Amino acid sequence: MAWTRLCSREELPPVGKARLCEIAGKEGAVVKIALLRTESGLFALDDHCPHRSGPMSEGLVDAEGGTIACPWHQWNFDLATGACKNIPGQKIRAFQVVEKEGFAGIDL
Ligand code: FES
Repeated sequence: MAWTRLCSREELPPVGKARLCEIAGKEGAVVKIALLRTESGLFALDDHCPHRSGPMSEGLVDAEGGTIACPWHQWNFDLATGACKNIPGQKIRAFQVVEKEGFAGIDL
């Protein structure tokens, strides 16, 4: 896996918010990642909700609960693990965010 930049420190979302990051994937594909920030740190999830591909970067972050709700039908996901809290067995891909050299990134 290779560490891949999502955005610079200046482009990080405000605490309690998410933003969309688009990065290059395999064979020219664009990979969409929702980057989220809480007082506990930075989290990254696949931007596509496993239900019907709702944009997780437009979801509602619950910083205290450590979750994000999909904006379309409110499936609720754990920020750290990606486990769905209200639909057992469902999960979204979660990435560990690493900050270095003034950028936030993930292993892709
Ligand atoms: S698309 Fe996310 S809950 Fe339906």
